Amino acid sequence: MTDLTPTPDTIARLRDEFGAELAAAETDRALQAVRDRYLARKGGVIAALMKAVAAAAPEARPALGKLTNDLKTDIEARVAEKRAALDASRAPAGAVDVTLPGRLTPLGHRHPLTVVRDQMEDIFTRMGFAIVEGPEVEDEWHCFDALNMPAEHPARDMQDTLYLASPLKGDGGADDVRTLLRTHTSSMQIRYMQAHTPPIRIVVPGRVYRRDDLDLTHTPAFSQVEGLVVGEGISLADLKGTLTAFARDIFGPRSRLRFRPSFFPYTEPSAEVDISCWKCDGAGCAMCKRSGWLEILGCGMVHPAVFESVGYDAERYTGFAWGMGIERVAILRYQVEDIRLFYENDLRFLEQFPY
Ligand code: DAH
Repeated sequence: MTDLTPTPDTIARLRDEFGAELAAAETDRALQAVRDRYLARKGGVIAALMKAVAAAAPEARPALGKLTNDLKTDIEARVAEKRAALDASRAPAGAVDVTLPGRLTPLGHRHPLTVVRDQMEDIFTRMGFAIVEGPEVEDEWHCFDALNMPAEHPARDMQDTLYLASPLKGDGGADDVRTLLRTHTSSMQIRYMQAHTPPIRIVVPGRVYRRDDLDLTHTPAFSQVEGLVVGEGISLADLKGTLTAFARDIFGPRSRLRFRPSFFPYTEPSAEVDISCWKCDGAGCAMCKRSGWLEILGCGMVHPAVFESVGYDAERYTGFAWGMGIERVAILRYQVEDIRLFYENDLRFLEQFPY
């Protein structure tokens, strides 16, 4: 507790102490605390000093009273002065404080599937392909019949295909067309060939739909990139060359392709294509389930029946086609374990990708 024995020395010391405290007060709060400590009517230093003066020897009282009053007036004035100084140092309301660090605006970026799709489009564009898109609501003819998949083909089953409730025409007439969500982008082969004559070199990216339950590797909606090349003298060698160039571009220059004989109604011969595992370079690892290979697409030479359904001369033209899943390529490229992550819009996942 400060010594308040009423003497001129005490008063001089209090003035010094106040001066030091005032100088240290750099905020409104600190200033208010200093003011209260000295000037508070109850418990303030000046109030206590005045009490002590009143109790002092009568002959000393007038001089001490005057010194105390002077100190009080001085303290009041200097507190007011300091308050004004603090106010003046503050920026006017609404002013921009140019010393504040900037606020980062979070920028959006492309979704990893869009990045992969753009990369694929870029690679094929450089090879001279045109990028075209087509309708997701299709009819059975474009999606199946014209692709040499007759009515009894299992892919047309209600179990696999999402049919729409309302037909395209919908008047109940005999020419009503059953509509569906396209199960593959191959339907665009037909639409494009109907509208164009060879030579054709197209890539068709887009969404496709299947009656699948959501799990680690399946979603009812996913995306494919379809490719179609038609012309005179197009051979299996062109197919292999095109796809090998693509694989090396997107998975790295050491990539090798393996063509496994397969079956699709719209190609003959047909193949499923595996790429050498980019992670272990074919040695076998967890990524490729120890096989050294990753399956990436289906392809083949366009079946003559497909050319016939669009009115092309199957004797004159040959061609090749392929279809691959964009999610599949993204999963292999980025080692994503669960396809659902691509659709949940969790930024903690999405922000991990280069864009
Ligand atoms: N349509 C096939 C699918 O969805 C992929 C495919 C295979 C497309 C062979 C083709 C092809 O163009 O020739 O699984």
